[in-house]
Amino acid sequence: MATRRQADRLSRSGWLASAGCPCRSRSVSMPAHQTPTGVVLTPERRLALLQWAVKVSGVVIEDDYDSEFRFCAGRSDRAGDPFNVPPTFASTYRDGGAVGYGRWGNPSWTAFETALGALEGGAALAFASGQSAIAAVLETLPMGAEVVFPADAYLGTRQFLADVATRGRFVCRGIDATNTAEAISALKSADLLWLESPTNPMLGVVDLAPVLGAANSNGVLSVVDNTFATPLLQKPLDLGATAVIHSASKFIGGHSDLLLGCIVTRDEDLRQRLHSRRTLHGGIPGTMEAYLALRGLRTLALRLRQGQASAQRLAERLADHRLVTRVRYPGLVTDQWHVRASKQMSGFGALISFEVADADTADRLVDGLRLIVGGTSLGGVESTIDRRNRWPGEENVPAGLLRLSVGIEDCDDLWNDLKSALQ
Ligand SMILES: Cc1ncc(COP(=O)(O)O)c(C=O)c1O
Repeated sequence: MATRRQADRLSRSGWLASAGCPCRSRSVSMPAHQTPTGVVLTPERRLALLQWAVKVSGVVIEDDYDSEFRFCAGRSDRAGDPFNVPPTFASTYRDGGAVGYGRWGNPSWTAFETALGALEGGAALAFASGQSAIAAVLETLPMGAEVVFPADAYLGTRQFLADVATRGRFVCRGIDATNTAEAISALKSADLLWLESPTNPMLGVVDLAPVLGAANSNGVLSVVDNTFATPLLQKPLDLGATAVIHSASKFIGGHSDLLLGCIVTRDEDLRQRLHSRRTLHGGIPGTMEAYLALRGLRTLALRLRQGQASAQRLAERLADHRLVTRVRYPGLVTDQWHVRASKQMSGFGALISFEVADADTADRLVDGLRLIVGGTSLGGVESTIDRRNRWPGEENVPAGLLRLSVGIEDCDDLWNDLKSALQ
């Protein structure tokens, strides 16, 4: 249970509903909620909003939380409708409908949210980027909240936390979240536990079930960044997380052509608050981005299957190469996190981090590649490689570490490219 201090703080911020109702519980009663735009989001209003989305987009929605709708992965099942929900470009709508203004809702967001929510097993809300999803969920915490996070978490998350800590907003404590005892003991004074697994770029794997279970029994809220695993390989809500965040700019979008983020939760009160924050802060997703992300989501399984199979083979070959000093890939039986990852993931993903002697050797390798593209993002159909230590803030990453995001190219072509650059 939350301590009195936590309970006081959290109730002020509105997080208490999540703390009191662990993530597995499903709220059925939805409190009336005044959105910043003045729209009162009563259950009736929400129903009207969903019906509006159904009408405008043709999407058939199952609202998993009220069981009032059916859902077919963001598609319409009405005769004569297009297979895909067309992007709706609208800043405003005629009076009399459930939604009046484009910042409050859009059928293309709803279609994407419906499909991703179904995959993660919760209700999803899309944001302008992964970073804005991270900021939105953290900003629901009250002043002075203590956030515990992996010291090797994604750089943007750490930078956000460093910024709010410097301004005295939160107390932030970096831990080795792969160390289960350390993670559990850090929960004593925490308000929120932030996790990422596997981590970017060290591919550390957190033992999610015991750590999230301990967070729940201590009344600590938990968020898991599931960007690397995707909902196809790992379902943190089932393992006890309060919320999951995604950078849909990566594997979900899958084509390196959009920025989008998402938060998924089973806590209806939290979802309401995040919705209100999205409207108030204006960090809304673009219509086209949501459309493209849903289109990307439809091929995620195929892309991931190919990328993951190649990643396994490449990791094995890299591990045997005389110039490679270490390979981090949870699919390798020799990897430190292989057993843990096998327990909680249904696949090991398409990201490998490997090390060569030093920064110069790594930079020469990247320069020598012809098929694999040097670039800082990941999760696209094209393989990309990045020496992470070149970025300010990544000083703790070994200088010669290269993060390789394996795309859908032919695996032998990828290996030939790496082999010739590794000369
Ligand atoms: C693990 C992880 N989480 C979140 C983000 C932020 O997402 P976005 O770039 O969509 O803002 C990134 C981006 O690289 C990431 O790798």
